[in-house]
This record gives sequence, C-alpha cells and structure tokens, in this order.
Amino acid sequence: MTDLDTAIPPAATGAVLLEARGLTKHFPMHQAALAKGRRLVRRGPAGRERGGPVVHAVEGVSLALPESHITAVVGESGSGKSTLARMLARLIKPTSGSLLFGGAAVPTSNRGRRAYTSQVQMVLQDPFSSLNPVHDVRYHLARPLIVHKLGGEAGGLDDTITGLLERVALTPADQFLSKYPHELSGGQRQRVAIARALSVQPRVLLADEPVSMLDVSIRLGILNLLGDLRERDRLAILYITHDIASARYLADDIMVMYAGQVVESGPARTVTDEPAHPYTQLLLSAAPDPDRAEPPSLQGRGSPPSLVSPPSGCRFHPRCPHAMAICAQSTPPGFQVAPGHLSACWLAADDLDAEQATPISGPPAGTPAEPFTAKPFTSAADPGEEM
Ligand SMILES: Nc1ncnc2c1ncn2[C@@H]1O[C@H](COP(=O)(O)OP(=O)(O)O)[C@@H](O)[C@H]1O
Ligand code: SF4
Ligand SMILES: [Mg+2]
Repeated sequence: MTDLDTAIPPAATGAVLLEARGLTKHFPMHQAALAKGRRLVRRGPAGRERGGPVVHAVEGVSLALPESHITAVVGESGSGKSTLARMLARLIKPTSGSLLFGGAAVPTSNRGRRAYTSQVQMVLQDPFSSLNPVHDVRYHLARPLIVHKLGGEAGGLDDTITGLLERVALTPADQFLSKYPHELSGGQRQRVAIARALSVQPRVLLADEPVSMLDVSIRLGILNLLGDLRERDRLAILYITHDIASARYLADDIMVMYAGQVVESGPARTVTDEPAHPYTQLLLSAAPDPDRAEPPSLQGRGSPPSLVSPPSGCRFHPRCPHAMAICAQSTPPGFQVAPGHLSACWLAADDLDAEQATPISGPPAGTPAEPFTAKPFTSAADPGEEM
C-alpha cells in the first residue's frame, strides 16, 4: 500500500525539476462566496476552520515533474486543477505543503521568488484575455526579455524575439511582430502566450487547459507544440485538462483529481486502458468514442460534492456504484494496482471484512445503477473532441 500523498509520477525520463509535497489549499469562505457569486454558501462543521467555513479546494497533493516529461492533471470543473497550478506557480500560498525546485526548498526572498517565476511559467486557458489588446506581439515578447535582462546586445532583442516566434511555429516571424491580439486567430494567440512564457527560459511549463477555448480544428497543433517542447527543449510540462482523451494523446503520466484529491495516477496508457478507480472509469465512459453516437454526460451520473463540507471517507462515494460501508467511513489510501499505478479506492484492498465490504446505497436517484463501462480507446485519442 502506498500513500498517494507521497506518490510521484512513474517512468520519469529525466531529473525531477519541480516537486510538490502534500500541497493543500483551503480558501476562506468569504473568498469562495465572491468566486461563486455566493451560491456556494453551505455551512457545516466539516467545512469550518479557524472560526469560519473554508473551501477544501486541494488536499494533500504530491507530484514530481521531471524534465522532458508531460504530466496531465485530469478532472471535472471544480476539482482543484487550477488551484494546484497556481500554488505550483506560487501565485497563491498553500495552506500547507511544500515545493522543491531542483531538490531544494523554494526560497521565499524576493530574489528567490523572481528566479523561481522565470523557471516555472504558466500558460492560461484564455489566450485572448492573457494578452493585452493595446500591445502588439513584439511588445508582449520584448517586455519579459527586458525585465529579466535577457535581450542581449543591440539587435539581440529582435533576434531573440524572432527565435521565440519560430519556436512556436509563427513564421515568417516578421509578419507577426506588429500584429495585435485581435488580428490573430485563437491558436496564434495561444502560440504568442506560449512564446512569452518561453522568453524567460523556463524549465517547467504549467499549461492550464491551454486548448479548451480553442477551435477543435486547431487544438491538435497546440498539443503537438507542447509535445515538441518536451522533446526539443526538455521542458517539464504539467498539462491540465478536463479531457482525458487529450491527456492520453499527449501525456506520459496522468493524475486524476476528484474534489481536490488525487484519486488515480500512473502511466497515461495504463490509466486509460486499465482504469482502476471508478471515477476514472466515469471520465472514460464520457470520453469521445467513434462507436457511440452520444457520449453519456458526466452530470447524468451525479454531481461533484460541495467542497465546503466534502463527503466523509471517499469523496466519490455518493456517486459511486460500487460504494461499500468503509467508503463512507475512511479515506482510502493509494493502493498500488500495478507498477507505478496507484488508485485511492477501497476496491483495491484485499483485507476488508464482510461488514466493511457491505454495499451501501450508491449514486443519487435517477442515476443509472450499473457500473460505468469505460470503453477502451479504439484508436489514438481524438483530442479535437469535447468531452
Ligand atoms: N480564489 C478563490 N477563492 C475561493 N474559492 C476558490 C478560489 N479559487 C477557486 N476556488 C474554489 O476552489 C475549488 C477548485 O477550483 P479550481 O481550482 O478552479 O478547479 P478547476 O480548475 O478544477 O475547475 C472550487 O470550488 C472553486 O470555487
Ligand atoms: S469503491 Fe469506495 S473507495 Fe472506491 S471509488 Fe467507490 S466509494 Fe470510493
Ligand atoms: Mg480550472
């Protein structure tokens, strides 16, 4: 038995660059109410902390990002993916847990912080809002180079910018330099955002749903660009997505998150071909399949829980068709189900007694009672389709 808190992605191909240990983020409730238009407010003893309720956005997540390696984080909206990325980028402070870069604790001084942010860059979901509409491409790429003193000699700045545009396949580069964001397609804007992230010579890229707002037709190009950056520049990439098919296509490893926790992790092919956790099976059952006209929606299988007072034990138990008595009582640890493949599910335990293994009422009324059938992928996943 292995605790997922200490799990690191297997099959690491290079030195570990960024490591997170037990990252946890609890947002005080007043911030949550602002974020959710006050719809979330539900009080319960489990959600209280230091005198007030909190949102348990991320709970004890550990991971390691090796160079030349893509790790995908997959989960439904609200599962804590962006909060995890923002903690890794040090945009928000974890409630607890630690970060290591190159094996050493990340310094908290201003100087250390600046060095860290140039090593660990983030690419956001919406390439339009992440670029300033009043500035052209040249400005967007020149600014970080100047701030970080990376432009080189006179004339060197333009060469560096041209090189960056070529790295993201915006060529001929001089045709893009004076363009404004509104003159670019969504895919081209995302390429500029990636070039800007690359300008400070990072070693880790945190890509938060980088293709989910793009046209289906151009998603593959951006995914392949990330794949090139892994090979060519040996970047460690965290690829965040709600689309498990694109994670299978692109990533070396997959971590599946549910309600703020990692529920399954392992090599991308193994996790998608032989999903061990019922939530991963649910995600796969809703993934695109050429043999199925209409994929079942996730909402038809119940909804994620409130993170103010999450369910006891396994947070997935109110939706799980396999739920047993123990599932509502104890949080499952990570069980090793195959080399490097972990599942935080009591189904993998081989020592439950009859009482613990007693089935309990499963998913909510109206939800199909049969177990999710995760159909195996019949071809290379189609990352163009929405889940
Ligand atoms: N700044 C914030 N203040 C309060 N709650 C937040 C904040 N940001 C995110 N949350 C809450 O944390 C949970 C996880 O959100 P998020 O990390 O954005 O999930 P995902 O990226 O998987 O959709 C959600 O319940 C969300 O409402
Ligand atoms: S079987 Fe139990 S532990 Fe496993 S996912 Fe279902 S509810 Fe959670
Ligand atoms: Mg998000």
